Amino acid sequence: MTIDIYDAIRTRRTIRDFDDRPIERETLLRILGAGVKAPSHNHLREWRFILVEDSVQREKLVRFFLKERTDEELKEMLDDWGMTVESQYTMYFDAIPKQGRMLLSAGALIVPCFRQRGDLLGPKESLHELNALASIWAVIENLLVAAASEGIFGVTKIISTPEERDHVRATLGIPDDYEIPCYLPIGYPTENAVWHEQVPISADECLFVDRWSG
Ligand SMILES: Cc1cc2nc3c(=O)[nH]c(=O)nc-3n(C[C@H](O)[C@H](O)[C@H](O)COP(=O)(O)O)c2cc1C
Repeated sequence: MTIDIYDAIRTRRTIRDFDDRPIERETLLRILGAGVKAPSHNHLREWRFILVEDSVQREKLVRFFLKERTDEELKEMLDDWGMTVESQYTMYFDAIPKQGRMLLSAGALIVPCFRQRGDLLGPKESLHELNALASIWAVIENLLVAAASEGIFGVTKIISTPEERDHVRATLGIPDDYEIPCYLPIGYPTENAVWHEQVPISADECLFVDRWSG
């Protein structure tokens, strides 16, 4: 079953609660195929995707960043971050304890990779030097919208530290000239999966004509 593109975009939502239904390879390839139709900054579409099926490999990835916290510790952490918008606080409070589990339980754990010429994190003179990173995020959004049209949802989980990046690279054998924007677990949501409200914003209110106003 597929749906209209605008409905798919509206339906796409970050989901962190996956049931154990696997994603068929044909479906996964269709979703990935939509991903790689994204625009690419240098025309070359130098993208690769690692599908992490082996549970031992998944455990190895997750073990690196997994940290148990009590609700009190979590609240303290969010307060330290100065989080004052209620919906943002609620989302983080729900999301943080799920960061490991969602990678382990997703029907498919994808690790997207993009070819990076030069040091991504080195000094820059212009934002266009980040274009390889920008392009892979276009791939990811295409992929998530296509997935939503199939009733499949996901979450992009950041790789927080250089040590974690090195760990992912070593565990999955990713060559030095490829970078990893995030982990991308996708799957079918559980019946009681949490769907957070998006912060409302309308096209009307973010469009200015001829010059910035307001
Ligand atoms: C660049 C980026 C990084 C994100 N990193 C994480 C993450 O590390 N862990 C997580 O659970 N969600 C992560 N998210 C998901 C956001 O929390 C989510 O997109 C946001 O709350 C809005 O919800 P929506 O996707 O349902 O519109 C990330 C999203 C983006 C775009």
